Amino acid sequence: MSGPTVIASPRDERFWADARAELEGLPHGGGLNIAHEAVDRHRADADATAIVAIDRQGRRTTLTYAELRRATNRFANLLESLGARASDTMFVLLPRRPELHVCVLGAMKARLVVSPLFPAFGPEPIRQRMALGHGRVLVTTASLYERRVAPIRASLTHLERVLVIREHDEELPAGTIDLSAALSRSSDRYEIAATRPSDPALLHFTSGTTGTPKGALHVHEAVVAHHSTATTVFGLQSGDVFWCTADPGWVTGMSYGVLAPLTVGATLVVDEADLDADRWYGILEREHVNVLYTAPTALRMLRKAGGDVASSHDLGALRTIASVGEPLDPATLAWATSTFRVPVLDTWWQTETGGIMIANRAGVEVRPGSMGTPLPGIEVAVLDSDDRGVPRQHDGHPVAAAVGETGQLALRAGWPSMFRAYLGEPERYARCFADGWYLTGDLARLDADGYVWFVGRCDDVIKSAGHLIGPNEVESVLLQHADVAEAGVIGVPDPVAGEIVKAFVVLRAGAPGGERTTRSILAHARRQLGAAIAPREIVITTTIPKTKSGKILRRLLRARELGLPEGDLSTLEPEV
Ligand code: WT7
Repeated sequence: MSGPTVIASPRDERFWADARAELEGLPHGGGLNIAHEAVDRHRADADATAIVAIDRQGRRTTLTYAELRRATNRFANLLESLGARASDTMFVLLPRRPELHVCVLGAMKARLVVSPLFPAFGPEPIRQRMALGHGRVLVTTASLYERRVAPIRASLTHLERVLVIREHDEELPAGTIDLSAALSRSSDRYEIAATRPSDPALLHFTSGTTGTPKGALHVHEAVVAHHSTATTVFGLQSGDVFWCTADPGWVTGMSYGVLAPLTVGATLVVDEADLDADRWYGILEREHVNVLYTAPTALRMLRKAGGDVASSHDLGALRTIASVGEPLDPATLAWATSTFRVPVLDTWWQTETGGIMIANRAGVEVRPGSMGTPLPGIEVAVLDSDDRGVPRQHDGHPVAAAVGETGQLALRAGWPSMFRAYLGEPERYARCFADGWYLTGDLARLDADGYVWFVGRCDDVIKSAGHLIGPNEVESVLLQHADVAEAGVIGVPDPVAGEIVKAFVVLRAGAPGGERTTRSILAHARRQLGAAIAPREIVITTTIPKTKSGKILRRLLRARELGLPEGDLSTLEPEV
């Protein structure tokens, strides 16, 4: 395979074979199954705690690996008794509770394909995803069913079985099965049938910040990357307490809030409630959390609550904080590092990559603003690209950009957790690859030491007076200003410059506001960025529109700015 000549990290060919050898595999050469690696293989330490769950009211329950094994066995048996078969799709619409973990892992034992739905989704995004994914089975709560699914049930033609959890002794909705009653009739012994590493396991819908939802399909072999990244990035070992704050409706919450930590025998913290600084510090302290995996938005919200809240808690168990999903701006990184006194590690990946691909790691120098370096086993290139990130062909092949040049970030195809399809859209899938490279849709730069610097989504770059500007570099600088809590930057059309940079900022509580503040932020941006890149205009606003996973919806900022239709906002369903 020819291709880019300059690469960040030539792949270690043996790496994935060695990583696979760390896992057990099914008995008798029966292949590889995620649920076996996450649950059943922990026989020696079966009494260790697999899950600590905290409900909205703060009540705490735990589940040992042995209990998780029996519960997932019951669920797998139940699915089979209901006629569900390998490769049927099961959707999960559940709050963050251990029942979710049981259903996901039990379904994987029965070799169904699991597709999680974010519990804040309204009926339309649920309908759209379940129709695209041909959902045969749905697990949800009675109240979510009544509010979100009953109104669309008739249109879900593939849906055969709905299993519901009754939380408050509500009536069983018509046409559903009571989950706990059905489970109590199921055996807690189950043997996982032969599973090929290439058998489908997970379907993650991603609408990203642009376009219609795509169903990224992942296979059981992905567990090799989950397990490997849990150790290489987080240094996780059995007995460690790991808290991933993302909802399993997103890939982060599934890969790292359910699967990866269990494969190493760690204890998962599962909190049902949404972000609240006091609550979070309390959980970190009481549960002796060793590793926290969260989003920069969440760190900024903790920062808003003030550093003194952190210092009133004993966070002595905390070893590492890591973040994902959006740039970890240097100001937030510096705050978190000095407040928590642990390494704060930015990590990069996507729904399509299934697991972390580029990251900072403990023991490796952190360069503030950089996402770190490619993980072992991952080969990265920044491709010589046009302004919008389209790779330029040289003799029919993409080539690497020079060090320091911005281009589209690409990964050499073939890592275990790589998505294997966009469901029902083979052309769209094929368009993601060129010459054996997976094109990420992100723009980035490499420095001479192989650190990767995020520039922006290809769709979001701004071209102003000949300069190519990533919104993130501008936002990071705005966030350094003492009065700025959140920032979102877009390009707006300009007859002279093509586009000009426009910024929306949310002020920190107590900031004076008004003309003086705007001028001070503008002056700071000009000083740091220069006049060519600094925003021409700054608008003070109360919120920056974001996806549920914390990404700035620049598409929406642009649409509002230009008076265009706002498009598919399914990721923005109101929280009910
Ligand atoms: C996109 C993927 C992977 C889990 C969550 C989201 C952006 C991700 C970083 C980072 C800057 C980042 C990229 C990427 N992104 N991590 N560390 N710094 N940007 O998965 O919804 O598929 O989004 O999130 O643009 O392509 P996703």
